[in-house]
This record gives sequence, C-alpha cells and structure tokens, in this order.
Amino acid sequence: MDGRDLVRSIRVVGSVRAAQGLRTVKAAWRRRRADASALPSRGAERARVPGPVQEVEPGPGGGVVRFSRSELRIFVAVNGAVFWGWDGASPEPSYALAGRCPEPDPRAVLEPDKDGGWRVVAERVTVVVSRHGAVEVLTPGGMTLRRDLPPRWWEPVGGGTARWMQRSEVAADARFFGLGGRASGPRLREGTYRLWNTDPGRAFGPGDDPLYITMPVQLVVADAATHLVFHDTSWDGTVTLREGEEGAGSGHDRAGTCEVRTDGGPLRCWVIVGTPARVLLTWASLTGAPALPPAWALGHHHARWGFGSEQEVRRIVSGYQERGLPLDAVHLDIDHYDEHQVFTVDHERFPKLPVLAEELRRDGIRLVSIVDPAVKAAEGNAVYDGGAAVDAFVRDASGRLVRGVVWPGEAVFPDFTHARVREWWGGLYEERLAQGFSGFWHDMNEPTSFAAFGESTLPRSARHSLEGRGGDHREAHNVYALCMARAAYEGLRELDPEERPFIFSRSGWAGLQRYGGTWSGDVATGWPGLRASLSLVMGLGLCGVPYSGPDVGGFDGSPSPELYLRWLQLGAYLPLFRTHASLRAGRREPWEFGADVLEHARVALVERRRLLPYFMMLAHLARRTGAPYVRPLWWAAPEDRALRDCEDAFLLGDSLLVAPVLDPGADRRAVQLPRGRWYDTVTEQAYEGPAQVLLDAPLSRIPVLARAGAVVPVRGDDGGLELEVWAPARGRSGGGLVVQDAGDGWDEPELERYVARWTRRRLVVEREGEGGRSEPPYPVRVRGLKEG
Ligand code: GLC
Repeated sequence: MDGRDLVRSIRVVGSVRAAQGLRTVKAAWRRRRADASALPSRGAERARVPGPVQEVEPGPGGGVVRFSRSELRIFVAVNGAVFWGWDGASPEPSYALAGRCPEPDPRAVLEPDKDGGWRVVAERVTVVVSRHGAVEVLTPGGMTLRRDLPPRWWEPVGGGTARWMQRSEVAADARFFGLGGRASGPRLREGTYRLWNTDPGRAFGPGDDPLYITMPVQLVVADAATHLVFHDTSWDGTVTLREGEEGAGSGHDRAGTCEVRTDGGPLRCWVIVGTPARVLLTWASLTGAPALPPAWALGHHHARWGFGSEQEVRRIVSGYQERGLPLDAVHLDIDHYDEHQVFTVDHERFPKLPVLAEELRRDGIRLVSIVDPAVKAAEGNAVYDGGAAVDAFVRDASGRLVRGVVWPGEAVFPDFTHARVREWWGGLYEERLAQGFSGFWHDMNEPTSFAAFGESTLPRSARHSLEGRGGDHREAHNVYALCMARAAYEGLRELDPEERPFIFSRSGWAGLQRYGGTWSGDVATGWPGLRASLSLVMGLGLCGVPYSGPDVGGFDGSPSPELYLRWLQLGAYLPLFRTHASLRAGRREPWEFGADVLEHARVALVERRRLLPYFMMLAHLARRTGAPYVRPLWWAAPEDRALRDCEDAFLLGDSLLVAPVLDPGADRRAVQLPRGRWYDTVTEQAYEGPAQVLLDAPLSRIPVLARAGAVVPVRGDDGGLELEVWAPARGRSGGGLVVQDAGDGWDEPELERYVARWTRRRLVVEREGEGGRSEPPYPVRVRGLKEG
C-alpha cells in the first residue's frame, strides 16, 4: 500500500472510531436505558430448589424423577452420553446438536438406589439421583466423578425467565479444561469465566476473559476418569472453578468445585465419561464431525490488514516465491472492500481480482476473503437492499432496525437465527466465488458493534427469530456466529457443490466444527500473547473445535525477530498456520527480520510443507473420531499428573511431541515426556519416558520429538508421499495412518494402516489390509536406527 492508501485507510478506521466517540456518553446511556426498559423487569424473585422426591416414571434409557417443585428427565443415549434436564427440559431444540438427539440406550434403566434415591446404570457410567435432587456421576467401578448439588432457581414473582445456579463437586485431583477459547489456559485455574462471546476491543493477553468463543463445555480430567460436561444453554452466564486439593498426611481432601450460573435458558446438561479419546468421539457424535479443510488450508497462509492493492499482494507473493518460501493462501482483509462494505470490491485498487486469483491458483496459492456480518445501513447498498427485501435484519422490541457502528459506518445486522436469512446470506457468497475466493474468514461476528450499548454488541432486548421460537439477544448472542457459519457453509455447498467449503470464524459456540474452524483473534504481540495463543488452540480442541491457530507474530505492534521466529516455529505445528497483523502493526513477512530469521523461518515453512500428508491424515482423523490434531501431553495418559500439569508442550497426533519455546532468550528447555521412547527429530537422539529431559532449542528450531515406532506420512522431495518410520525399541512395534490426497471434493479416502515391527534382524514396515499385510506402496525411510 502506498502512503496515500495508508492515510486513507487510517482515516476510514479513524472516522469509525470517531463515530464511536461521537456517540456521546449521553447517547450510550440513553441506549442502555432503552435496552433495559425493553426487557421485562425482574422485580422480586422467588428462590426454588427441587424439594423431596415424589415419584418416578421409568422411560427409555432412564426416566423422569418427580420432585415436589421440579422434575428431572434423565437418560443414557446409545452413544453412551448421559442427558439430564430439570423442569422437564429436553435435549431439543439445541444449537449444539448436529442433528436429532441420539436415541436412548434401551439397556439403561432407572432403578431404586439406597436412601430413597434412584439410579441409572449404563455400560460406562452410573448416575445416582438423590431424593433431594443431587445428581452424582460415577464410573462403572463406583468412583465418583462429579456430584451436582440440587440446583437452585430464582424466578421473577411476576413470571418470566428463571435464573439458575448449579454447584458441583469434582475429585480433589481433577483439572479443568475447555470453556471455549480461553487465554489463561489450557488448564483453567481458580476463577470466574464468563459465558458471553466478546471482542475485547484491543489486542488481548492471558489476563483477558472472556474472548470471542465461549462455550459451557468443560473437560474434567481426574485419576478416576475423564468426563465432559456441557450445560446446553446459550444464555449469558458464568462458570466459577476452583481446583481441589489433596490432603497431605492425615489431612482431608478438598473437592474441586464448579458453579455454573446463567441468566436464563434451560437447565440441562450432557455428561460423557471415558478416556479423553472416547469422550471426544462421543462429543463429535453429538455435536457433529469437524469439517474437513481442503488440503491447501493445511499449508501456510499469509494475511495482512492493509495489503491495500493488487500490486502489493503480488509483491508479497513474489517475495515468498523468489526466496523459495512455501505459501498456500493469501487472505484479503476489509481494505479490499469498497468503503468497508462486505461482498464488494474496491475496483480502483483491486481492479481484476478474478485474474489475480487465477494467477495465484496456477501457482498453488488460494485467495481467502474476510466476511463481516455488519451491513452498511444505506439504501442503494445492494447488500442492504437485498437484506431489507427479505426482512433479514435484527429489529428491536418496537420493530425498528437495530443499528450499530462497525467498519462500514452505521450498520445493521442479519438475524442468522432465521432459516430464510441464512439462505439469503449463503447466496451472497456467489459474488465472492466469482471474484475467485476459495475460503472465508468470518470476523466481527460476536457480533461486535463499536457503538457503545453498554457492551460492544447488540442490545440485549434486540429480537431474534431463534428458528421461529422468538427470543432476544440474551439467548441469541452466543450462537450468532455459529448460525452465520452455518449460513455460509450451507450456501457454499449449494453454490459450489464440488468443493469442500473452507470457513474459519472468530466467534462461535459448541458445534462450530461442523462448519469450520477458528483463529485466536487479535492476540497481543508479546511473549504472554504467544503463550495465550497456544492455550486457545488446546482449549478449543478439547471442546471439539480442532482447527485453529494464532496470528503468527501477534496482531498489534512489532515483534522482536526472536519473538516472531518462535511464533512462526510454533505456528508451523498448529492446524491453521497463518501470519497476520493489524493495519498499523509492523511487517510480518519472514524476510523482514534479518538473514538469520529468514533462514530459520524457511526451515519451519519447509518442514510444515513436508508434514502436509501428516496434517491431512490428522484432519481426516479429527473428522472421523473428533480427536484434535493438537492434544495435551496427557491425552493417552490422563492419570499421569506430571503430564496433566504440563501446559507448554503438546502432542501433534499420536506421533509427534512439539515443545515450543515460549520465553525470550531460551536456547534449551525442559520437556516432560510421556511413557515410551522418543527421538529428537533433528539429532535422532533417543530419550526414554516418563521423564523430564532438557533439550536444545537453539534459535534455528524448537524441539520436536517423534514417538518410537511412529509411521509418519510426509512429502518426499519429488512431492510424492513417503513414510518416515521411527524405529521402535527392540522387541516393540509401532504404526501409523496414512490417507491419500483425494482432492478438495467430498471423497472420503480410506485410512491406510501401517505397522512397524522388528523381525529377528530387521525392521519391517507393512500395510495392514483386509487381505493381510502387504508391502507399502510408498518409499520408506527409517530413522532413529543408531539407538537400535
Ligand atoms: C478484527 C480482526 C482482525 C482484522 C481486523 C480488520 O480486528 O480480528 O483479524 O484484521 O478486524 O478487519
């Protein structure tokens, strides 16, 4: 972008910011008052608890337990998940569920328990309901995983939505993870976490909460078992967590506690018990299989707010090409829109986008477009007129359009909770496809409005369709982005049925993975931001959203060369590998940080490309099993407490362990190894776990270890598939999975299974098939043999 463009962009952004300022405190105050008065006033409230049990009514998979002041519906589904809902709440309707609620498991029955309570016994879990409405979840062996005390409601005396609170206890050794994308995780320590998708309004760090994606989904990991609990309500609320403590010597254990409070919505939850892998599998069967990104989306993406022109895009792309640096996608931000209006192009500065897209595509590079939900409120703006014609925009209680201020200035917001609106919006991507875009980056969809309504989003009293049920923004807010993703996904499937849609979205909710992934938003440039960006990816993966990654280098400011490099080295092992930064931030191209950084960055970029077949396999595995690509070290050994507390390293699939450098000046770092033999992938030195080892982490690389026995599909020098096999320890065996690239369509290629094992003298690698074992059809390279 030249100086003039820069000034122009800053002026537009500035004027938007100024508009925000112009809406004086008085106006904001007026809005807030109007919002509050449009909502039913709560007035006096009456507290309620279930009271004593009265009767039970057995039903499929469980039944209904009636208390004097509430009733509990409980059943075990065929996939092993347990559902319970108070006040007669049933699993549907739900924005989280991928389809219909799964059938009840006919083998699970409600039977009397001691002390007048009732229980449901299923294959993997026992649930005991006490006679006052406490609900306890136990392993089949009888270990308590979670004990929910009788819930408490507060109901407005004059009628209206009840607030509720659910307090639970978990094992003293339990650790909490999840709740969506949290900057201070992945292990969620003592604190209150809000359930309200929020644009923090500036680049965030580990102390900022909530952020863009919150979800009432917790993964609780304890010695006895792992369980996931999902409180299926989209209303605003909080989750207060406190880890327990084990009594030393003769001291008592203190249980961990969790208190969920919401402003409304049904009190219902799902609990899934098992190993982490089994829990995520069941969670994906409930909320949907993760969308499979096209192969190119697993490569390296370069974005920038403020490329400013086609020439600049070409200049950056040639910068990569001339230096032999892999690049797979370029993202265009709002500066390529005409006056920041979504689904338009600034033809002065981007006169031939389809030509540019075609040129890039020939070089194996795809174009991705940002898509913001806010529509400039101006007649003559085609998107506005089209939306108005189908009554697409959110209205307030008196029927007026709700206006906010976003990049294009005064704007209105589509109500994505209405099927007709989703259909209209989905059709708009036709314009994007015609411009040559292959992927979509949903932004500002919490939704964010700069105009202060008290909070930078829509007023709580704003009306939404909620699929015809009708309701307000208090209920629709957290699912706004989820419904926008659905609109895009369904629209794209119709517009371009041959290709899998590629969507990633800043905001979302439980089930987002059905339509695509996310990225970590505007993470602050700095070492704490680097750490926060890993926390987000890990936490989201454990909530079922496996595809995400940070803005490499951070969103604002200028990273030091060292920080930039460490971020890039981490990003190279995360599902979404994207450099991006704000309009006013420093450069992010790998050649902007000196010759050394360029050389080391090249190594990271080339290694990512080499690992593409492995990433592709992980994407297919995520789709089929719900297992995230990026997994905590305790994934296969949740009972290992040293691993449970380790937050600065991760497993990439089964085969690799990645130990990023998250601190300045480090050239070595400690790594906690899970059981088994691990090879440093550069030196091939072997280490035996469980152990803590100190590994070299010079600027040129971060420690990456391969599990002995792993069969890792990689891209050979000729571009073909190769198997990199890490020698199992003598007498042991190993294996791995491979998928052939089946293109960007809907074919589901077979997962090929390979085993590596020692015969008396040599290591053999074979494909396992229905007809027995056979020679692999790919070249095999064995590594780690010096330790034989
Ligand atoms: C938001 C997004 C960021 C984008 C910017 C301009 O801050 O999070 O990624 O560059 O808006 O569109």
